[in-house]
Amino acid sequence: HELRYDPFDPEVIADPYATYRELRDRAPLYWSPAAGCWVLSRYHDVAAVLTDPITYSSASGIFPTPADVDMTAILLPMLVMSDPPRHTQLRQIVSRAFTPRRIAALETTIEGIAADLLFQVPLEDDWDFVSAFSGPLPAIVIADLLGVPREDRDRFRAWSTTFVQSNPSRGQLGVEVATALYDYFASFLAERRAYPEDDLMTALVQAEVEGQYLSEEELLGFCLLLLVAGHETTTNLLSNGVVLLAAHPESRERLADDPGLVPGAVEELLRYDSPVQGLSRTVTRPVELHGQWMRPGDTVLLLFGAANRDERVFADAEVFDIDRRPEHIAFGRGIHFCLGAALARLETRIALQTLLGDRSFRWEADLAGAERLSSGPVRGFASLPVR
Ligand code: HEM
Repeated sequence: HELRYDPFDPEVIADPYATYRELRDRAPLYWSPAAGCWVLSRYHDVAAVLTDPITYSSASGIFPTPADVDMTAILLPMLVMSDPPRHTQLRQIVSRAFTPRRIAALETTIEGIAADLLFQVPLEDDWDFVSAFSGPLPAIVIADLLGVPREDRDRFRAWSTTFVQSNPSRGQLGVEVATALYDYFASFLAERRAYPEDDLMTALVQAEVEGQYLSEEELLGFCLLLLVAGHETTTNLLSNGVVLLAAHPESRERLADDPGLVPGAVEELLRYDSPVQGLSRTVTRPVELHGQWMRPGDTVLLLFGAANRDERVFADAEVFDIDRRPEHIAFGRGIHFCLGAALARLETRIALQTLLGDRSFRWEADLAGAERLSSGPVRGFASLPVR
């Protein structure tokens, strides 16, 4: 049969993995008429593109969008959509603020947040994992990291949820809520300039490289990027994780018995059901790959979700195995490698250890009653009933 891949097709979104295998085997460089872009699905091809940002630019956008959506109307956050040399500079500045020490210091805070959320859940009943646990957890953590005061938490969480759920690939831009967040962050920044605190916002205001500070616009853009990049991704890793562990009760038992195995399991969750299934780049010079030519201006979609199931790299790639310790590509690679990877790993480890900590708590996930997210590059759930 004819091979067809449309990243926006609901059937593909429900289960993309069989199509991914066909792409890897039959069309490693595939032209998708539906998406209007090239598609790469093998691990080594995806890695090669990620580590050549000169040939494959991020500056024109990294989200695959249907042809009828005007990308220029969409707010382009800084950093992730910049190329060297500007990217190198920005990344240096924000890395000053986003330090391993600052992330590690969040451990007890995150433990408290996870325990609080689980405490509020009616464990004897059906409950929605997304609205009660995997949704709020990363939003509260980012709010805490930025230094959002406790009394603003609920307001912040509501904005954040609306903002990340507005879907650019369907032309919904969340402009109103973005404006509310901008205004909020702007007054917050002014306050931190006047009265510095020990939080990320203050560190960002003060961070400089070679006499260069972030501009007001860049600071606001970065706060928004943290939300976009750090909220829903982590939510989905957690949701996908509880579904997978419910389907693999023997692995779940081992994790409950030995919490030291959880960090390894988190890596396998990232590989097996990657929250970010794909991002794109724009080709800057003619390139030949697998016997075809890509031209300058062409878009190429990198399928992390397919690369992470590539049997050329992972033995028995379709098998979920918490002992695997995979070198997955779920956080990207090269200069744009996920700035929040350590935080995402920490949040997910603590969340799973908290869920598994109560020896009597073993959940079932109701997949028939669940609602999948329909945005192309993000894999996860809008709602997920568990019991
Ligand atoms: C970049 C995935 C959590 C902040 C990236 C990229 C991926 C990714 C694939 C590379 C983008 C590219 O190459 O174009 C994920 C996943 C997460 C996660 C799967 C959770 C499971 C977070 C968190 C934060 C964060 C918690 C911060 C609070 C960022 C930032 C970038 C980034 C700022 C841009 C880095 C740059 O362009 O230099 N992430 N991310 N991410 N991520 Fe994450």
